Amino acid sequence: MSDSPVGHTTVVHGARELVVGPAGRGPDSGPTADLETIEDGAFAAEDGVIVAVGPTDDVIRDYPPENADTAIEATGKTILPGFVDPHTHALFAGDRSDEFGAKLRGKTYQDILADGGGILRTVRAVRQVDDETLRANLREHLDVMLAHGTTTVEVKSGYGLDVETELRLLDAIATVGDDHPVDVVPTFMGAHAVPENQETDEYVDEVVEAQLPAVAEQGIAEFCDVFCEAGVFDVEQSRRILETGLEFGLAPKLHADEFERLGGSQLAVEVGATSADHLLQASDEDVLAIATSDVTPVMLPGTAFGLGAEYADAAAFRQVGADVALATDFNPNCFARSQGFTATLACVGMGLPPAAAVAGITRHAAAALARDDRGVLRDGAKADAVVLDAPSHVHLPYRFDTNPVERVLKDGRLVVDGVADSD
Ligand code: NIG
Ligand code: FE
Repeated sequence: MSDSPVGHTTVVHGARELVVGPAGRGPDSGPTADLETIEDGAFAAEDGVIVAVGPTDDVIRDYPPENADTAIEATGKTILPGFVDPHTHALFAGDRSDEFGAKLRGKTYQDILADGGGILRTVRAVRQVDDETLRANLREHLDVMLAHGTTTVEVKSGYGLDVETELRLLDAIATVGDDHPVDVVPTFMGAHAVPENQETDEYVDEVVEAQLPAVAEQGIAEFCDVFCEAGVFDVEQSRRILETGLEFGLAPKLHADEFERLGGSQLAVEVGATSADHLLQASDEDVLAIATSDVTPVMLPGTAFGLGAEYADAAAFRQVGADVALATDFNPNCFARSQGFTATLACVGMGLPPAAAVAGITRHAAAALARDDRGVLRDGAKADAVVLDAPSHVHLPYRFDTNPVERVLKDGRLVVDGVADSD
């Protein structure tokens, strides 16, 4: 639901810690200091927009909780910006749990796809179900994400791989997003895989000449993404799709340098992509090219964890001044919907400090979706917030077996109340 509430005042106060957001770049333009926090913090919002943030005494003097429409006492707890998940394939049908076992027995992700499994199997399942099933599937996943603190999520199409089904998927993404509290950002990803019995070049022609014009005409998608990978779409095919997407007003994103270093990072910089995602094989040169561009690097530690693979080199990006965003990559190959758990994996698997992981699922994740209005708790930002039933932001990645999110506010309204299962 993107409409802001009207005439509604919100006050959340008394928190042991309030996370404002990254503290801004240092004088040498180095990486942003990971987090600015306020002890005994509070914020107030009017009509879904933050109007005051600071020590509780200061905020409640101007905005007394007793006069607020929504007042929350957060004594002993932590207030964080609502989480943003900037890379998901959350709309799908079918069950690929047997591939989990196959992978444990040594099959690779690429072997499974080359045998007609993986993405292609989900495409067959999606084509067999009706629109209401698709919508119900997505709704259920958004409910879980929201309960885990996600208030904005990007959802890609890409399990249709023909004009009709890609449009159906985008329509389902928009329809569910319209009446769910989570803000849903739709991405067109017709170039997610090459459909069975089609040549890659022939399919790229179809994406460029038939799918993109139809997607632009439909007017739902905001971004265009491509799986730029050995055996899927090469750099020149990816460039053609992303540049055509740009002509139709779709901002580029890219699955880049995940399994092989094909050149996706450089392509992302060349086309001015909003984000380059995965990046496990990015070289030093790629890291520097991204860090010195406006492309946000997005890392998906859940995918590496689920595949038992190496993690992306977050430290290399941070060393040269890049702000690293984090996403779940939720899809049938990576059944992970919690950005809190993503933060845990980023700390344990990629060595991010907890504060950087929290920045990665909030402000930097919002940058990966070109959303300047969220991912921080500052004046003028959206009043999307999470109350953790825990005394500091460190407890989000630290507690990884249960959900420490107790309350979620979206546009200043309480949309999740008291579900933390950490007690
Ligand atoms: O980002 N790599 C392409 N897309 C997904 C996987 C989708 C699937 O396996 O269904 C990803 O990991
Ligand atoms: Fe993906």
